[in-house]
Amino acid sequence: MSRTGTGGTDRLVRGIGRVITVYERLSRLDRGRPPVTPVDRDLRLVVTAVREEADGVRGLTLSAPDGRVLPRWRPGAHLDLVLPSGRVRQYSLCGDRNRAREYRIAVRRIDRGGASGEIHQSLRAGDPLVVRGPRNAFPFVAAQRYLFVAGGIGITPILPMVRAAAAAGADWRLVYCGRSRSSLPFLGELAGSDTGRVWVRTDDDYGIPASGAELLEHAPDGATVYCCGPIPMITGLRLDLPASRARSLHFERFSAPPISGGRTFEVELARTGRVLTVPADRSALDVVRTAKPDVAYSCRQGFCGTCRTRVLDGEPDHRDHTLTQEQRADGMLLCVSRADGGRLVLDL
Ligand code: FES
Repeated sequence: MSRTGTGGTDRLVRGIGRVITVYERLSRLDRGRPPVTPVDRDLRLVVTAVREEADGVRGLTLSAPDGRVLPRWRPGAHLDLVLPSGRVRQYSLCGDRNRAREYRIAVRRIDRGGASGEIHQSLRAGDPLVVRGPRNAFPFVAAQRYLFVAGGIGITPILPMVRAAAAAGADWRLVYCGRSRSSLPFLGELAGSDTGRVWVRTDDDYGIPASGAELLEHAPDGATVYCCGPIPMITGLRLDLPASRARSLHFERFSAPPISGGRTFEVELARTGRVLTVPADRSALDVVRTAKPDVAYSCRQGFCGTCRTRVLDGEPDHRDHTLTQEQRADGMLLCVSRADGGRLVLDL
């Protein structure tokens, strides 16, 4: 899954952490647990359970081999999974934060999805797995009212937010969209929620949502909206937010953000001399992958740093918010950064 930042400003943001902190205080299990920090070291875990959560969606529970308490996390956090093939992919934590000795993620199988196919085909209970994190690029801010909007597997970061909102006594609603009920993971867990707060909106029953307004209709007055879903869903919410009762939108995408204002440029792979043309509407990463399928990447949104590549010549148009000036001096993130015409020579 890929992700991006937030829109809008919530004046209650000044209370960031207040509700979360209260929630944490309520959780006696948090005592003595390691703090929430960016964790880039490898955690060597074991797959302790594999469950079919919906059509094409597999849930994995991960624990330490010795059963020790794992670093804690907050709603919106994700893990980097380092798969046996060496692929690194990110998956939102979707379990119960109070279960201190385990993490849970869920993976939808994507057609020709290398990492998701590997997880569905190869991973079994008992297999070792290296993860990094938890890290959080989709932070959950304190508010009194929320609208959560999830599209299919987008429920994964949303589920812990719903739990936190409910635990904090906030007024919340969830609109959960997907093709059909059988495609939606964790419906059983939501069945225990106050049913008046959850609307399961399937294309089977209602057709594809016509607009963001249709989803925003369910927002309590002044709600903070959290959405994880496909780009059209997020775009609809962004367009219709100003005319709605909601006040701010935080979202996370499944896929790379659209490219705006791109120009065609070339990349030269220095070790072979091969020159590739990057069209205005494609990323350098996409194009480089056609020639070099094993090039490392993960988030495809410019925040994980996995696709950082040395630039031997040329002037990149840096479009990330991740690299330091020092790192930009000789490198770029292939997934989002480009060139304003001309050619970049890459150490590939
Ligand atoms: S793949 Fe994550 S920064 Fe490029």
